[in-house]
Amino acid sequence: MKILVTGGAGFIGSNFVHHMVKKYPEYEIVNLDLLTYAGNLESLRDIENEPNYKFVRGDIADRPFIMQLFEKERFDIVVNFAAESHVDRSITDPGIFVQTNVMGTQVLLDASKAYGVKRYHQVSTDEVYGDLPLDRPDLFFTETTPLHTSSPYSSSKASADLFVLAYYRTFGLPVTISRCSNNYGPYHFPEKLIPLMIIRALDDEKLPVYGKGENVRDWLHVEDHCAAIDLIIHNGRVGEVYNVGGHNERTNLEVVKTILKALDKPESLINYVTDRPGHDLRYAIDPTKLETELGWKPQYNFDTGIAQTIEWYLTHKEWWQRIVSGEYSNYFEAMYGERLK
Ligand code: NAD
Ligand code: TYD
Repeated sequence: MKILVTGGAGFIGSNFVHHMVKKYPEYEIVNLDLLTYAGNLESLRDIENEPNYKFVRGDIADRPFIMQLFEKERFDIVVNFAAESHVDRSITDPGIFVQTNVMGTQVLLDASKAYGVKRYHQVSTDEVYGDLPLDRPDLFFTETTPLHTSSPYSSSKASADLFVLAYYRTFGLPVTISRCSNNYGPYHFPEKLIPLMIIRALDDEKLPVYGKGENVRDWLHVEDHCAAIDLIIHNGRVGEVYNVGGHNERTNLEVVKTILKALDKPESLINYVTDRPGHDLRYAIDPTKLETELGWKPQYNFDTGIAQTIEWYLTHKEWWQRIVSGEYSNYFEAMYGERLK
């Protein structure tokens, strides 16, 4: 079995590559990644010499290159993680989100169709469903919730999902889609809430909380997400969408306070800053389909997962310090400089 993992040098992709390389020594895992600002081969150092693993640098939206790669490698399964993934960046520069997330997906679909891939899996997000109100805790996203996006990021992911489903219906390409809630865990790029707050709190720096910090996210440990994708590519029904989430809803303020407490840092580090435009209020996943059909069960709850994650950042300072000392500081200044004054 030969599996193409795109975006395997990013946060979730690198965790998935680790999972697959270790669990399936008989499979060949090919990691294709453009190594944008979010791609980091340091995240794969411990498995880079494994005989069942190979890295290829390239762009999923580069059609001739992708066609050649598929011609040469003849993949059985494609798992597409490659994407621009940060909502705030999509507000500053939406164009690259269309290019990578929509056009790139369409190129991969064409290549999968042309070379008879047996399963194309699209890693999507609960953000395609839009948001839920804060005062209706009884509501959850199911697979039949209408798509209703808010940000350029979620719009690009929803567009990609529609192309994936169109290639199933129109061309019979054997596809599956997973829509997961916010992931956290090792190798998470520190532009996202949890790693950003951990590393800034460690340095006693101001913590930028958007608005009042009352927005709710449904946190999923990245290893539980990887296990779900593993199940779906092997046992999921083609043409189907599966929601992935572990019922771990927290307000942003609760998350930040949990991190501060674990690090023994004062809540006075919290700084309320201008809200994100169009900020989604609440995400909450109903994972019943994945649980009942495929027997998926998360191994982490938020308390055990966040403790493990904080420990990982404490013991892997060289991993994130190299990021923070590079081009990242320009990003932080542009995104937060004025807001944190
Ligand atoms: P990430 O930003 O950490 O990693 C993305 C990876 O894709 C990087 O390694 C980057 O170099 C690579 N990449 C970007 N453009 C590329 C291109 N044109 N060609 C090849 N590679 C390219 O993202 P992540 O958080 O690991 O997310 C992975 C996937 O999961 C994305 O599709 C995202 O939409 C989805 N997702 C993420 C979350 C989350 O909480 N992080 C939640 C739901 C869904
Ligand atoms: P983020 O990690 O960017 O994920 P997403 O926008 O995909 O949910 O943000 C998670 C939540 O944290 C979201 O409600 C925005 C908020 N947030 C802050 O309050 N401050 C920050 O500096 C960041 C990056 C996010």
